[in-house]
Amino acid sequence: MRTKINQISHSYVGKAITIKGWAKSLRDQKTFAFININDGSTLSGFQVVLDESTKDFQEIIKTITTGTALSVTGTIVESPGKGQSVELKATEIEVVGTCPTEGYPLQKKRHSFEFLRTMAHLRPRTNTIGAVTRVRNALAKATHDFFQEKGFLYIHTPIITSSDCEGAGQMFRATTMNLENLPRTSTGKIDNSKDFFGKPAFLTVSGQLNVEAYTCALGDTYTFGPTFRAENSNTSRHLAEFWMIEPEIAFADLNDDANCAEQYFKYVIKHVLDSCQQDIEFFNKFIDKTLLQRLEHVEQTSFKRLPYTDAIKLLEASNRTFEFDAAWGKDLHSEHERYLAEEYFKKPVILTDYPKDIKSFYMRMNEDSKTVAAMDILVAGVGEIAGGSQREERLDVLISRMEELDLCQSDYEWYLDLRRFGSIPHAGFGVGFERLVQFATGMENIRDVIPFPRYPGHAEF
Ligand code: 4AD
Ligand code: MG
Repeated sequence: MRTKINQISHSYVGKAITIKGWAKSLRDQKTFAFININDGSTLSGFQVVLDESTKDFQEIIKTITTGTALSVTGTIVESPGKGQSVELKATEIEVVGTCPTEGYPLQKKRHSFEFLRTMAHLRPRTNTIGAVTRVRNALAKATHDFFQEKGFLYIHTPIITSSDCEGAGQMFRATTMNLENLPRTSTGKIDNSKDFFGKPAFLTVSGQLNVEAYTCALGDTYTFGPTFRAENSNTSRHLAEFWMIEPEIAFADLNDDANCAEQYFKYVIKHVLDSCQQDIEFFNKFIDKTLLQRLEHVEQTSFKRLPYTDAIKLLEASNRTFEFDAAWGKDLHSEHERYLAEEYFKKPVILTDYPKDIKSFYMRMNEDSKTVAAMDILVAGVGEIAGGSQREERLDVLISRMEELDLCQSDYEWYLDLRRFGSIPHAGFGVGFERLVQFATGMENIRDVIPFPRYPGHAEF
């Protein structure tokens, strides 16, 4: 049986164990040698010492290169060297898989993240991507723990859908029709009734509408799954395929929604600080020197809440020249969002009550008939990390809003039924999971916090 490296502690001294992993580095001193071996359970890897007493020492040492897969059996001893309190004195080493130097791109030298993206299948072997992966995992676990502890039901919403939740028309079509020879109606139009689902279908941009149906029957729910947007944005914060966490709270208003979101962010950040200490220290040292301080601050501070209208006044009054002007009725740009969170308030900001014209049809109309009960959560480095709203639960208001936006009512009859039968006030939000990973690691580009990024022109691996 193998022991995982992150389990080994000082109490293991004297124990015989086997570890398995990949050689990160080798120092050959002729009569003895050190190998740093990593099995992914931790950032630092583990020091193995070999000497003449190790079986086939001279022969083995010649075959080990960076990347070689190894199984090492030996005894844990106190380490006389700096940097580790214990090490593994090897009695036997088995080369599980050799790693020829020729053609292996990940030698010891550092590579740029751009270069590593071209080998997304090998980059998990690097320290940074390994650390990102562990933090991402910790955030996913903490997400489920948070909602489960609060009694939310986890709903598996569909990936293929025929409704456009955000109404923004950025959907990928899912079809089995032969694009070289499309079925046509008598008038020459494409005959969608011949497609797999008998009508046009797409990859979902959000699980929200579906999760609302469950909230309107069972109370608090959440979905956490992949979502797809065919927006042609080549930015460091957009992906064509990303993961979203979407809680939906029953009998709740916008204030309850904001409270839940704030608690959620504090909970998951605390979990990462507690469980990924070594990785966070690594990011703080090599990626973003303000990270640790910022994460600790998020856990302790209360988020700033203010209406969109006040934020616009504040941006207009600032002496800052922005690339885009901030004006009432216009959506904020990332530079505005970051200014508010990073520089002005120096903490996460929950902006509320946006103009209806820049938000989706399902958001609850405020009494002024100009704004809706929406919220965006803005954080340093990222800008918008989450968006949500109280939902329009009044059937007549919702229908007139859909008419205003020219949405085809018959496509949404099932959604309207939720308002026809036992309608309740409810609210929810969506967290961009990769933006959360960016925030928690300080990683600059969203393409480096998801295992295999999909963005315009890129769907390799
Ligand atoms: O603001 P959005 O579009 O909101 C919704 O989809 C709602 N249905 C959520 C809800 O109320 N249940 O997206 C939510 C979040 C954004 O705040 C952002 O963090 C992330 O999803 N996001 C993206 N992340 C990566 N790449 C993209 N192209 C993204 N688009 C949105
Ligand atoms: Mg949004």
